Amino acid sequence: MNEVLNYALGDGSFWMPPQASSVASEVDSLYAFLLWTSAVCFIAIVGVTGYFVVKYRRRSDGQRTHPIAGHRRLEIAWSIIPAALLIVMFVWGVRVWVKQTVPPNGALEVRVNGVMWNWNYDYPQYGFTGVDQLVVPKDTPVKLVINAHDVIHSFFVPAFRLKRDAVPNRYNVAWFEAVELGEFPVYCAEYCGDAHSQMDSVVRVVTEEEFQEWLRTDHVFCPGPEGPLDYGQRLYESKGCRTCHSVDGSKLVGPTFRGLFGTTEKLADGTEVLVDENYVRESMMNPNAKVVQGYDAVMPTYKGKLRDEQINAIIDYIKSL
Ligand code: CUA
Repeated sequence: MNEVLNYALGDGSFWMPPQASSVASEVDSLYAFLLWTSAVCFIAIVGVTGYFVVKYRRRSDGQRTHPIAGHRRLEIAWSIIPAALLIVMFVWGVRVWVKQTVPPNGALEVRVNGVMWNWNYDYPQYGFTGVDQLVVPKDTPVKLVINAHDVIHSFFVPAFRLKRDAVPNRYNVAWFEAVELGEFPVYCAEYCGDAHSQMDSVVRVVTEEEFQEWLRTDHVFCPGPEGPLDYGQRLYESKGCRTCHSVDGSKLVGPTFRGLFGTTEKLADGTEVLVDENYVRESMMNPNAKVVQGYDAVMPTYKGKLRDEQINAIIDYIKSL
């Protein structure tokens, strides 16, 4: 109980959870600035309003108010001061937002799957799928690729000041760098049905050595002898991808998969598209939406023919080439 209370009150600060990620203190500073600026303005405006209500009240039935002329200096002041405050909020907010949104290169990549009503995690680089807690090393950037298998959920880690929606049929990206060891609660922040309030999980932040140890020993999470890369390769061979897409760089009916992921492709209509998770998924579900320049063959849709975990495995396979 005491622990819950400590958590609710935050440790060290009055109403915030612990600051366990690299951006947490910046988010809190911005929050405090917004809160206290609003509080000071609120008190000043309501105070002056109240003072005027009393001071200029009607004292007799026959009393008339005088017409009011403009006051230029006052009007300039009440335009410039709020404008300056709003500009500060905007610039500060954008800087924190960009820092929070763009993952650094070389981050450890974890896929977050929201499904009624639990969170599970895939580590494509290590061949783990369906892990029931997010284990990460301290002081290491972690990129999350977040998706949902049924309805909209939202991945929320208060101690990291991190929240991102998990949406079916697309991938949202978020990242964090944990700066404290320990376990931190994960919640679902989007109402998703009966057990929404119990859709919780945990992030376990460990040392680099403990993380390596965890990678070696915790094979209970691996679904079988076949990791996602082998699974992806098997699907590539069995579902007909290989008929049109090579994996050695040669040009068949469609673009090769080798080195494809992360590049920018020119489309038939002249625009450009970044080959990321969302583009690869769209190309499987709705192949003719964005056709790469120089290719005109019509690819059949795989909508309804591949399950989510199969799509994910194929994406992991393409990424690895
Ligand atoms: Cu998942 Cu609420």
